[in-house]
Amino acid sequence: MRIGKYEINGGILAPMAGYTDIAFRELCIEHGAALTVTEMVSVRGIVHGNAATNVLMRLGEKERPSCVQLFGNDPDDFARAAEKTECDIIDINMGCPMPKIVKNGDGAALMNDPENAGNIVRALKKATDRPITVKTRLGYRMDEVTAAELIESVANAGAAAVAVHGRFAEQRYAGSSDIECIRKLAERAPLPIIVNGDMTDINAAQPFAAVMIGRAALKDPSVFDGKPSNPFAVARRHVELLKKYFDERYVVFQARKFFVHYFSGVRCGKQIRAAVNDAQSSSEILKALDFYERSRL
Ligand SMILES: Cc1cc2nc3c(=O)[nH]c(=O)nc-3n(C[C@H](O)[C@H](O)[C@H](O)COP(=O)(O)O)c2cc1C
Repeated sequence: MRIGKYEINGGILAPMAGYTDIAFRELCIEHGAALTVTEMVSVRGIVHGNAATNVLMRLGEKERPSCVQLFGNDPDDFARAAEKTECDIIDINMGCPMPKIVKNGDGAALMNDPENAGNIVRALKKATDRPITVKTRLGYRMDEVTAAELIESVANAGAAAVAVHGRFAEQRYAGSSDIECIRKLAERAPLPIIVNGDMTDINAAQPFAAVMIGRAALKDPSVFDGKPSNPFAVARRHVELLKKYFDERYVVFQARKFFVHYFSGVRCGKQIRAAVNDAQSSSEILKALDFYERSRL
């Protein structure tokens, strides 16, 4: 598919707060992800020069093109934030169902206000010539599919593509993603639709422009190239990349979170996770990986 001038040939890593940091995005690119998206970043935070947002927006050299996801609800904030972001593509979060986000009118709340959603895209288009994408869900309330209105509004405002997660905001992550419903939306949509939710295969069939994968990539980033992978090699490389970009505290913190996924269903998985939970440094984590990998042979 094309997003503006960028050709995207392959799967897209879904934005996941707390997970898709610069290190994990690089790991997924090494495993064939064609596009990666940062965790969601507050436009207010950017406008006010919040230091934490700068960390979230750090981009790697291999992110070609790079994409930052922004959240907020005020078109002017988005326009000002765009001037302070250096990515190639700007994505707008119009699907996050978490109460602390929705209560401010951000994320999924924008699904109830397609006019303002369009105004945000329009403000961004005025502020920058970079392509703008949107990520949303089927609708806000259970079984009320309203995404077509949102898609039309942001398409008219100049959005380049929309990713649709096949659940309703009220549903959060319960039930399953309704791919058939996204298909119907895509067939009528005036712009490319990226399919998302419970996907494990990056090959998009018509009418989808591309596939976006989140949780399946947390289990195994090789979901993007389909090549067989060894969880020990993936975990080791991930620790190396974390060390490249972050301090030890964060490396250990992230390794604990990710190893739950990498080593679920693996022999010795429980022991490895316990060892990583006890580890206080990256070298202890790497030692534990060596030990359990050898003991498996
Ligand atoms: C831990 C976690 C954090 C997430 N954070 C974001 C986010 O920052 N922005 C966003 O648009 N979606 C976020 N999502 C939703 C995912 O991008 C994706 O739409 C959802 O997980 C469904 O796709 P999947 O089944 O492939 O994981 C998050 C999901 C998870 C599980």
